[in-house]
Amino acid sequence: MTPAVRWTSVTPGLVMAISLVACGTDEPAAEVNDASGAAPDAAADVSESDGSAAPDLNLVFGEPGPLDLSEGANSFRFGAATAAAQIEDGEIWNDWYWWTLPVDQGGRGNSVPVGDAVQGYTRAQQDIQLMQAMNLDAYRFSVSWSRVEPERDQISAEAIAHYREFLEGLSSAGIQPMITLHHFSNPIWVDDFRAEECARDATPADGNLCGWWHPTGGPQIVEELAGHAALIAREYGDLVDEWCTLNEPVNYLIASYGVTTFPPGRNLLLTRFDDLINTFRNYTAAHVAMYRAIKENDTVDADGDGNAASVGLSLSVIDWTPARANAPSTNPDDIAARDRVNYVYHYLIPDSLLNGSFDTDLDGVADEQHPEWAGTLDWLGVQYYFRNGVTGDPAIIPGVNAMICFGDFDLGSCLPPEDPTKWVPTMRYEFWEEGLYTILMDMSARYPTLPMVVTEAGIAAENGVRRSENIVRLLEQTHRAMSEGADVRGYYHWSLMDNFEWAEGYEPRFGLFTVDRETFERTPTEGVQVLGDISRSRTITEAMRAQYGGTGPMSPEVEAEE
Ligand code: BGC
Repeated sequence: MTPAVRWTSVTPGLVMAISLVACGTDEPAAEVNDASGAAPDAAADVSESDGSAAPDLNLVFGEPGPLDLSEGANSFRFGAATAAAQIEDGEIWNDWYWWTLPVDQGGRGNSVPVGDAVQGYTRAQQDIQLMQAMNLDAYRFSVSWSRVEPERDQISAEAIAHYREFLEGLSSAGIQPMITLHHFSNPIWVDDFRAEECARDATPADGNLCGWWHPTGGPQIVEELAGHAALIAREYGDLVDEWCTLNEPVNYLIASYGVTTFPPGRNLLLTRFDDLINTFRNYTAAHVAMYRAIKENDTVDADGDGNAASVGLSLSVIDWTPARANAPSTNPDDIAARDRVNYVYHYLIPDSLLNGSFDTDLDGVADEQHPEWAGTLDWLGVQYYFRNGVTGDPAIIPGVNAMICFGDFDLGSCLPPEDPTKWVPTMRYEFWEEGLYTILMDMSARYPTLPMVVTEAGIAAENGVRRSENIVRLLEQTHRAMSEGADVRGYYHWSLMDNFEWAEGYEPRFGLFTVDRETFERTPTEGVQVLGDISRSRTITEAMRAQYGGTGPMSPEVEAEE
C-alpha cells in the first residue's frame, strides 16, 4: 500500500510546487550524500572506543556554550522549542486567529480555531518550571510581533512587560533563551486577507501593508520587522544573547504566498511567480535588516560568555529521496531532481546570506547581487522531521523537472514507508533517523565554518515511547555527525508541549508534555524523563540506546482518542 502524504502545514507538498518552476537547472547543488546507506550498527557507531577494551557505547555530549562563529566549538545544549502563535492564549491581533476563526464570527474558518491555543501566555511561568524540572539548558520560543505591536507603531507595554518577566524567570531557572522573531505569523495589519487583495499599484495603509509580495508594501514590512527586532533587542538584550530571525523561510513563503495553506492564503505560485520570488527577496532582506538591528541594539553579553548577540535563522530540512513509480530510484534524472529540491530547500537562503547574492529563477546560479546581505549569518538552525520522495520522471508532466510526493497528487514520487512503524499517522510522513545525519554532514561540507544547531526535531505521537525513541535516535545521529566533524552545538526538541499545529489543528501531539484540551493541564510523556536524564548527565547511556536507539522498528503508535 502507498500511503498518501497529506498536504500538511510544513510537509513536503510545499516544496513540490516550487520545484515545478525551477526548471532548466544547469548546475543544481553540491553533491548530497545518499541517505540509503546501511543503518549504523550501534557497536560500530562508537566514537570513544580505545581499540582494546570493550567499546564504550555511551555517547557523551559537551556542556552548553556560545553559539558563535568564533567561539563555542564542542559545546552542546539540550532544549525545547515552541512558537507564540502555537501556544499563546488571547492572541487576537494575529493573522492565524482570523484565519482560523469561524466565518460567522468574521474569520476565514480554516483549520480549526486556534482559540486560546494551550494557554502558553497565562501559564508562561509554570511552563518554566516544567523545563527546570527536566534540567533543560535552553528554550527557543518566539515573541509575538502581533501582541507587541497590535496596531502599526502602537507598542503594548503589557506585552513588553510580560516577556521581560518571562525572560527573568528563565534566567532565574538557568535556562538560556533563544528568541525567534518571525515564526509563521504576522500582525493582521501586515496583510489583511479579510480585505480585497491590494492592487500592484495600491498604496499600503497602516491597517494593511498589502503583504510580503507587494512592490511597495513588502519593503515597508521589512522595515517594520526590523524596527520590531530593534525594539526587542533593546528591551531584552540584557537577558538574551541568541536570536533566530526567521523560521523555515521556504516552507513559510510557499505555504502563505505560494499555495494558500497559511494566511494570507495567496496563490502566487503558478500564475504570479515573480511576485512569489519577491516574497523570497523581501523575506531574505528582512533577515538582513533584523541581523543588523539586533547587532546594534543588543550589545550586552547577558551570560558573560563573550557573546552579546549571535544571530541565525532556521531551515526546514528534509531527507529528499529519489523515487520513481513509488519506489526508491537510482535513475540519474531522479537524483538530479532530488538535488534541485535540496538546493531550493536547504541552500538557497544560506547561500544568499553568505555570498550576498540571490538566485531569482532558482536555477542554482545567483543572478542578482546584494553585497549588503553578505556575512549576516552567525549560525544555522536545522529542523528535521521526515524523509520524502522526489522524482524527475520526465514522463510525468512535460517541462516539470522535479515532483515531490504531494498528497493525493502522487505521481510516483510518494514512497511507501520502508518500515511501517516509522509512519507518523497524524502528519502522514515517514520518520527516518539517518536523514538527520546525512543532512548535517551535507550542510557541514557546504558551509564548513558555520556552526549548526538542531533548532527543532520531534515527532507527533500518542505513544510516549515513540517520543523517547525519536529523541534518542536523532541524538545518536547528531552525535554521529559530530564525531565525523560536523559542528553541531545543540538540540531543541519540538515541542515543549502539545500545541496548535497550523493547518493540521490540534490532532498531532508534538509535546514532551501532553496538554488536555479542556483543562490545559500539562502531563509529562515518557520523553520528559528521557530527555531530562540525557540533559542532566550529558550522556546517552548504553542502556538507553539499547532501549530506544538505533534504526530498527519503533514502538507502535496508538490510535488517538476521540
Ligand atoms: C515548524 C513548527 C511545527 C513543526 C512540526 C516546524 O516546521 O517550525 O512550527 O509545529 O515543524 O510540524
